Amino acid sequence: MTAKIIDGKQVAADMRAELKEKVAELKAKGVTPGLAVVLVGEDPASKSYVTAKERACEEIGIYSDDNRLSAKTSEDELLALVEKLNKDPKINGILVQLPLPKHIDEDKVLLAIDPAKDVDGFHPVNVGKMVVGQDAYLPCTPHGIIQLLVRSKVQLEGAEVVVVGRSNIVGKPIANMLIQKAHTGNATVTVCHTRTKNIAEHVKRADIIIAAAGRPNTVTADMVKDGAVIIDVGVNRVEDATKKRGYRLVGDVDFEAVKEKASLITPVPGGVGPMTITMLLYNTVQSAEKTLKA
Ligand code: GUN
Repeated sequence: MTAKIIDGKQVAADMRAELKEKVAELKAKGVTPGLAVVLVGEDPASKSYVTAKERACEEIGIYSDDNRLSAKTSEDELLALVEKLNKDPKINGILVQLPLPKHIDEDKVLLAIDPAKDVDGFHPVNVGKMVVGQDAYLPCTPHGIIQLLVRSKVQLEGAEVVVVGRSNIVGKPIANMLIQKAHTGNATVTVCHTRTKNIAEHVKRADIIIAAAGRPNTVTADMVKDGAVIIDVGVNRVEDATKKRGYRLVGDVDFEAVKEKASLITPVPGGVGPMTITMLLYNTVQSAEKTLKA
């Protein structure tokens, strides 16, 4: 079997067109959705993610407030900026790009963001609401994965899902969302991580594999059941002298070999990545809509 490609770019484009219309409607009612993006330091991958997020905002008419701070910024300075953005009525969403430099306590910063503006869905209040199935901002990457699966008509109810990776940003929340009693859940989920005894034995059982380990070739063809659905969350830079920039991007899955066994697979780039940004736009628009209802 050769897998069909799940085209994240196309799904993202469709959703962004819908969101652009919503933004126009909000503007007609006097509300311009605003997203504050905060980047501390010079990490090249973070810089390119932040630029992509800001560009996506501008494309659909969201006001983007760019805050790029030096790597030497103190925790107190960052907390003061978050406080200012919490109070700013032009700002509906606040995104602090992770990871933060080592001298800043990430948990403290996330806790300082007003949960009503936490469009990343990382504040413990939103995480808690998600876990108990209450209305909350859902974290963007897992929410984007669910959209890709649902829009590709993948059966979730009763499906065996194996998640590889247990990060707070992807592994833990996607596992949680997929076990919710909802049409976007009802799956049976196993989470594998660095202390799992035999990852391959678990992955081989999966109808749906979600690779979010942050390491190339974590999922190889011998680990994949015929017809499995593969979601590759990895974004890894590997050296490539044939490229002008000196590297290419690969996921966590051995794409070329695995696509010969899977039924559906996301590419890297062009799979999950565009959806992460789209769900950020979605959450920001939702936040702006709530100000109308308040
Ligand atoms: N770092 C990696 N992914 C993310 C994300 O979705 N949001 C933020 N704020 N930082 C990240």
